[in-house]
Amino acid sequence: MTVYATSPDGPVNWERMLAQRTRSMQSSAIRELLKITQEPSVISFAGGMPAPELFPVREIEEACSYLLRNEPKSALQYSTTEGHRPLREFLAESMAKYGIQHSPDNILITTGSQQALDLLGKIFIDPDTEILTGSPTYLGAIQAWRAYQAQFITIPLDDKGMQVELLEETLNKMDQMPRFIYVLPNFHNPAGTTLPEERRREVVRIARKYDLIIVEDDPYGALRYEGEDIMPIAAIAPERTIYLGTFSKTLTPGLRIGWIVGPAEIILQLVRAKQGADLHSSTFDQMIANDVAQRGILKVHVKKLRKVYGERRDIMQDAMTEFWPEGSSWTHPEGGLFLWARVPEPINTLEIFKKVVQNKVAYVPGVNFYPHGDGGFNAMRLNFSNAQPEQIVEGIHRLGKVLKAELLTKH
Ligand SMILES: Cc1ncc(COP(=O)(O)O)c(C=O)c1O
Repeated sequence: MTVYATSPDGPVNWERMLAQRTRSMQSSAIRELLKITQEPSVISFAGGMPAPELFPVREIEEACSYLLRNEPKSALQYSTTEGHRPLREFLAESMAKYGIQHSPDNILITTGSQQALDLLGKIFIDPDTEILTGSPTYLGAIQAWRAYQAQFITIPLDDKGMQVELLEETLNKMDQMPRFIYVLPNFHNPAGTTLPEERRREVVRIARKYDLIIVEDDPYGALRYEGEDIMPIAAIAPERTIYLGTFSKTLTPGLRIGWIVGPAEIILQLVRAKQGADLHSSTFDQMIANDVAQRGILKVHVKKLRKVYGERRDIMQDAMTEFWPEGSSWTHPEGGLFLWARVPEPINTLEIFKKVVQNKVAYVPGVNFYPHGDGGFNAMRLNFSNAQPEQIVEGIHRLGKVLKAELLTKH
């Protein structure tokens, strides 16, 4: 018998055919917003993008030529799921400088950290599995794990990151333990906060007491503009931390090269999950990243980024002081790419967003970063790495005008 979704000549009812989990997927608000803001006249602080004019294009070109001349048979061939061995050796060595002691065998190269988040969802999350995260949190993680029908249990952030003193109280109220705790300790996306060492140690103490795993997502750790490096959680508790790194912010996001490091048992499961996803990350891109890293170019590049982005952060903050209405406030990130700004309460950053874009400037409204949509109404995330200094000043000025005009309508 032929069963038609609608009628033999009507349109197919795709919605009806979707898996249950697909129905809970939403497209990322940021990606949708970026579409509107791609027009060149819009000064966008919305994306999390590095400065394209700083990409080490010539060095990458040299790496490509070198590889194609000297190692074309391996560079263009399939390779192992775990990833290019010399790159994993380089990563093991460079993470050891931050106190993360794992062998290259405990590293899996991923197609950006975003794939790492997805693979974690694939191996850990059943429908209704609870996971603990700070709130606000990284939108891409919400998106990845919602697809596996995760439930988010949230812990509020303050100006030092996750309020870990609320962790134990939250755990005690839960019927079952969460599958893992998701932490963004360095230069939080979106909040710009840095978790102090005492709080990292407290997360570990609680994780050990309740036998929990920690997922430490650290794309920005190398981009510190002031202060001292703080020990990663993976260095304090290597036995129960899964650490995610990426070249997206320190080299180029277009290569799509990230990595996961963690206990061998879990890396094995992740390797199996990755085999079904893409067999392996691009061999050629891994070899390019490796070549650039091994020749010391990455180190020089990161040094340059620290200087330029640190200056852009300061320029943005100075412009906010000059142009924004009284009652506004913002975080002072010690690194990373984002400021989290609050504007006076009557203003709703989502409601005014259309007006903001009409004024040729953009941010991401704060509410998007709350898994339950229950906060950030007067907040916004601003990226300071992508725009040039004069655009930053102009964009912040435009925003200030919209905010002041909006406040006038509220009085
Ligand atoms: C906290 C966090 N995790 C993961 C990612 C994903 O990065 P990628 O997939 O480019 O490595 C990002 C990107 O903005 C991020 O901010």
